[in-house]
Amino acid sequence: MTEIIKVEHLKKNFGKFEALKDVSFTVDSGEVVGFIGPNGSGKSTTIRTLLGIIRKDGGTAQIFGQDVWKDSLAIHQRLSYVPGDVSLWGNLTGGAIIDFFMKLHGKGDYAKKEYLIDRFELDPKKKAKNYSKGNRQKVGLIAALSVDSDLYLLDEPTAGLDPLMEAVFQEEVQKLKQEGKSILLSSHILSEVERLADRVVIIRQGKVVEEGSLKELRHLTRSVITLETRNDSSSLENLEGVHDFTRQGNEVRFSADSNQLDGILAEAARLGVKKIESVPPTLEDLFMRHYKG
Ligand SMILES: Nc1ncnc2c1ncn2[C@@H]1O[C@H](COP(=O)(O)OP(=O)(O)OP(=O)(O)O)[C@@H](O)[C@H]1O
Ligand SMILES: [Mg+2]
Repeated sequence: MTEIIKVEHLKKNFGKFEALKDVSFTVDSGEVVGFIGPNGSGKSTTIRTLLGIIRKDGGTAQIFGQDVWKDSLAIHQRLSYVPGDVSLWGNLTGGAIIDFFMKLHGKGDYAKKEYLIDRFELDPKKKAKNYSKGNRQKVGLIAALSVDSDLYLLDEPTAGLDPLMEAVFQEEVQKLKQEGKSILLSSHILSEVERLADRVVIIRQGKVVEEGSLKELRHLTRSVITLETRNDSSSLENLEGVHDFTRQGNEVRFSADSNQLDGILAEAARLGVKKIESVPPTLEDLFMRHYKG
């Protein structure tokens, strides 16, 4: 596996404001990496630095082993980008704009373009100024996905798409992944990230605070357990690693620290288990936990 993106200790200031303090992560070939964090945490700033739109103040950032600032021209021949707020030339049609972007990039696949216009149900003959937000977004997506790139930088690419189109987007990303392409996906739709990403990078106030596969991240946190026992189960409430304990009739529900499961399950077994259900935390739970402290 080769490192397609390699960012180390990236820093970016806007005047006195430190937008990026310490951002390090990698994206390997064939990998989809989810890039998540709250508003203003530095996701777009990181992506704009990778694109060579803004210049870093410290650290290193490489794509395809090349410097994102000095070698940006060469990098852009193998890269597609979709922002969350696609802005277009109002008097051109969507179709003309897509064609223009494909020519700029160089490696356009016009059959794929037609296919995507059909899949995303875009009317390419309309002038851009008459498109809805979702339709502008589709123009950006179709342009980016109709060229043969090795890396896709997607910064809230599905902002404004309806659930049907969101599903189409997810299918198309899965296909790119199967083709061995690399994708950095920043999104507030955590179910989308959960479905698509091999790894997740979590950023907060300009610093990467967590990185790993969902499996690894889940291991750090709690599962929600529902239990029905033959004997009174109130002794579970005070066990180490048991949180948010509630009871409804014979059923108790709590969240459990992964590293305390042994003791909790031993106590449950002693009480006589009639029913057990365990739900791992969603990415949304992980995210909330991180940001609510
Ligand atoms: N050109 C700029 N000048 C000054 N401050 C900026 C500039 N661009 C970004 N910032 C600031 O840097 C911080 C990070 O912004 P950024 O757009 O990277 O956040 P984000 O993680 O993409 O947030 P969101 O989820 O809202 O898209 C914010 O506090 C923002 O106000
Ligand atoms: Mg952003």
